[in-house]
Amino acid sequence: MEPLETTGSELDTMVDDSKVKFGRKGMSRERIVTIVVLGVAVIIFIVGIVLIAVAAAADKKDEESSSGTPVKPTSIPVSSKCSLSEEARRSGLPEFLSRVKATYYKLHPYDLDPDATTKRIKVEYVAYDPTPSVIKHRTDTALTLLKEINDKTINTDALKPRERKALAQVKHYLQHMFGQPYDVNYYAGDWMMGPNLFCWQPICSLGYGVSSGLGINHKPYNASDVKLIETKLKTHKAGILQYIDNMKMGVRKGMVRSVEDCQAGTDALKESYKRISLYNETGVLQEWFVATMLDPDYYSNITEEIDNEWKNKHGGKNVSETIKEYLVTYLGKPIHQLLSYVENEHMRHCVPSNVSSGLANLPLKYVWFDGKENTSWPTDPKLPTGEPLNGPKAYSKIMSYFTTNAMTPMEVHELGKKQLDIYYPMVVEIAREVTGETDNDTAITKFRNKLNSSESYFNSEPFPENESNKEAHRKCSDIDGAKKHCPKRWAALQLWFDEARKVMSLLEPKTIPFFYFTGDKATTPTCPIDLLPDMNPSSGAQSYGSSNADCTRSAKYNIPFFLNNFGPRYQEWSVNAHEARPGHHTEVHIISKMHFISFH
Ligand SMILES: *[C@@H]1O[C@H](CO)[C@@H](O)[C@H](O)[C@H]1NC(C)=O
Ligand SMILES: *[C@@H]1O[C@H](CO)[C@@H](O)[C@H](O)[C@H]1NC(C)=O
Ligand SMILES: *[C@@H]1O[C@H](CO)[C@@H](O)[C@H](O)[C@H]1NC(C)=O
Ligand SMILES: *[C@@H]1O[C@H](CO)[C@@H](O)[C@H](O)[C@H]1NC(C)=O
Ligand SMILES: *[C@@H]1O[C@H](CO)[C@@H](O)[C@H](O)[C@H]1NC(C)=O
Ligand SMILES: *[C@@H]1O[C@H](CO)[C@@H](O)[C@H](O)[C@H]1NC(C)=O
Ligand SMILES: *[C@@H]1O[C@H](CO)[C@@H](O)[C@H](O)[C@H]1NC(C)=O
Ligand SMILES: *[C@@H]1O[C@H](CO)[C@@H](O)[C@H](O)[C@H]1NC(C)=O
Ligand SMILES: *[C@@H]1O[C@H](CO)[C@@H](O)[C@H](O)[C@H]1NC(C)=O
Repeated sequence: MEPLETTGSELDTMVDDSKVKFGRKGMSRERIVTIVVLGVAVIIFIVGIVLIAVAAAADKKDEESSSGTPVKPTSIPVSSKCSLSEEARRSGLPEFLSRVKATYYKLHPYDLDPDATTKRIKVEYVAYDPTPSVIKHRTDTALTLLKEINDKTINTDALKPRERKALAQVKHYLQHMFGQPYDVNYYAGDWMMGPNLFCWQPICSLGYGVSSGLGINHKPYNASDVKLIETKLKTHKAGILQYIDNMKMGVRKGMVRSVEDCQAGTDALKESYKRISLYNETGVLQEWFVATMLDPDYYSNITEEIDNEWKNKHGGKNVSETIKEYLVTYLGKPIHQLLSYVENEHMRHCVPSNVSSGLANLPLKYVWFDGKENTSWPTDPKLPTGEPLNGPKAYSKIMSYFTTNAMTPMEVHELGKKQLDIYYPMVVEIAREVTGETDNDTAITKFRNKLNSSESYFNSEPFPENESNKEAHRKCSDIDGAKKHCPKRWAALQLWFDEARKVMSLLEPKTIPFFYFTGDKATTPTCPIDLLPDMNPSSGAQSYGSSNADCTRSAKYNIPFFLNNFGPRYQEWSVNAHEARPGHHTEVHIISKMHFISFH
C-alpha cells in the first residue's frame, strides 16, 4: 500500500547545478531556492493530523458512555459512515491514537492541549526543555510507541480508508518524534547545532507558549498567582540557557554548521525575536507574545488591596511592574544572551563550507576557530550517553520526515540524477530554440547570459551597498524603515509585488476545473492573500504564511527583501502557483478546516 502524504509541512529544495554560479561567491542566496510553508504553524498542523484521527475515536467513546454498556468490541453495529471498522476496534487503534495524543501533550507542555482547562494548564505548563536527557526521553517514548504500533498485527485491508490513513500518519508522526523534523531526535544529534535557516525548531517559537500558556491562562488573582508566573517564566530562562549549553556541546563534539548556515540560522533567530535583537533585553516588552501580559485587563482581578500589599513587600513595585520585570529578567535577558552567543561566540566555531557543509562530514575531527582547525583540540564525537555521532545517519533520520516513502538518501540522490538526464536535454533544446543557435555550447552560454541579465530581474541595476549591508539589515527591518532607508529596494519590490498580484489573479481561474468551489465538497480557500516583504537577510525565496479556518486575517505571500537581485521574473509563475493557488494556500486551507472540524 502506498504510504500517505505528510501533511502540515513541506520543504522543497531546488539547488541549481553547482557548476552554474550566480551572483556572489560562496553561498549565494540565488543558488538555493527554497520554498516553504512558514514554520510557525507547522507544529500545530502536525498535531492536527493525529487529532483528526483521534476525533473518530472520541466519537466512539461518546457512543459507548451514552449507551452505558461495557465495551464489547465486536457487537456494535457498523451503521454510521463515520463509525469505526471492526478491525480498528479489534486492534485497539482508537485507544492507541488517543494515547499518542495524550503523550504528545504530556511531553510538550508548552504546546497547550486545546481540551485542557485553565486549571490544568496552570499546573502543567512548563517551557520548552532542551536538556539532552529530556530530548532523549521524548525520542525514546516516540520510538517505543512506534514499535508498539509496528508490532500490532492489523489487517489494513479491513480498515476503512480514513483509518488506514490515520495508521500510516501516526507511524510517520512517531518515526519523527511527534511529527517534527529538527532538534527532536536525540540520536541524530542535530539538537547541538543551533537554529537553522527556517528556524523550524522549538527554540524559535517560544512566544506561542508565552502568549497562550502564560498570557491567556495565567491571569493573576492574588500574590501566589504572581509567584506562579515567576516560577513558569523561570522555566523559560532555564530552557534557553540549556539551549546555549547544547550549542557549546556541539562545538566540543564537532557538530557545527558551516559559516553560511550559522549566519542563516542567526538571521532567522533574530527574526523570531526581532525586538530583542534590535533593542536588547527590554525589547521583549515590544514582542507580540507578551502583549496580553502587558494589557491592563490582565490585572483586572488584582484588587487595589492586593496590589498595595505586593508593593509594600516588593520595594514599591506594583504587580504589573513586577511582571514586566520578570519578563525582562526571565525571557528578554536569556533570549538576548542566546542571540549574542549565536552571533558573536558560536559563529567563530562554524566551519568554512568547503570543509563541511550540511551533515555529511559531521562530526568534525577537531574544533574550529576563526576558520582554522585547532589540531590540538580533538572533538569528542559521541552523544552524552556514549553512542557515536554520525552526520550521514542524522541526515537520513531527518530526510525521511520530508518523504512519503522509505527511500534512502542515496536513492533520492540517484533519482535526482535520473531526472537530470531527462530534463537537461529538454533545457538544452529550449536554449537552442530561444537563442536561435544550433551549437549546444553557444546556445547554453547565450541562454545563461539571458537568464542572468538584468532584464530578468525587477531591479534594473545592482542595489546600492548601503541598502545591502548589516546596517541596512537593521535599519530596513520593518516596512517603515525599508521605505525610508532602502528606497531602491522598496521601489523594485513594488514591481515584484505588481507582477505577483497579476500572476496570482491570472492563475486562479485556471484552477476552476480542478476543485469544488461550492457545496459540501468545497475545498478552495476564500481568504485573500497579501504581499509582504520578508526581512530576513538570509531568506532566499518566496514563502507562504497561512490564514486560519475562520479567515480572520489574510494569508501572506512573503517576498525576500535582501536578495542580491529581485526575481528572476521567469520564476514567478511556477513559484506563485506553488505558494498561493493552487499551492500552499489551497493545501493549508484544507488542513485548517480539517483541524477545525476535529475540535468542534
Ligand atoms: C550574472 O550577472 C552578474 C552581474 O549582474 C555577474 O556578476 C555574474 O558573473 C553573472 N553570472 C553568470 C553565470 O553569468
Ligand atoms: C489565588 O487565586 C487562585 C485562582 O487564580 C486560587 O486557585 C488560589 O487558591 C488563590 N490563592 C490564594 C492563596 O488565595
Ligand atoms: C537596553 O535598551 C534600553 C532602551 O533603549 C536602555 O535604556 C538600556 O540601558 C539598555 N540596556 C542594556 C543592558 O544595554
Ligand atoms: C475578573 O475580572 C473580569 C474583568 O476583566 C471580571 O469580569 C470578573 O468578574 C473578575 N472575576 C473575579 C472573580 O473577580
Ligand atoms: C503600577 O505602577 C506603574 C508605574 O508606577 C503605573 O504606571 C501603573 O499604573 C501601576 N498599575 C496599577 C494597576 O496601579
Ligand atoms: C577552503 O577555502 C579556503 C579559502 O577560500 C582555502 O584557503 C582552503 O584551502 C579551502 N579548503 C579546502 C579543504 O578546500
Ligand atoms: C586550541 O586548543 C587548545 C586546547 O583546547 C587551546 O589551549 C588553544 O587555546 C586553542 N587554540 C586556539 C587558537 O584556539
Ligand atoms: C546537443 O544537446 C542535445 C540534448 O542534450 C543532444 O541530444 C545533442 O546530441 C547535442 N548535440 C551535440 C552536437 O552535442
Ligand atoms: C543609503 O543612501 C541613501 C542616499 O544617500 C539614503 O537615502 C539612505 O537612507 C541610505 N540607506 C541606509 C540604510 O543607510
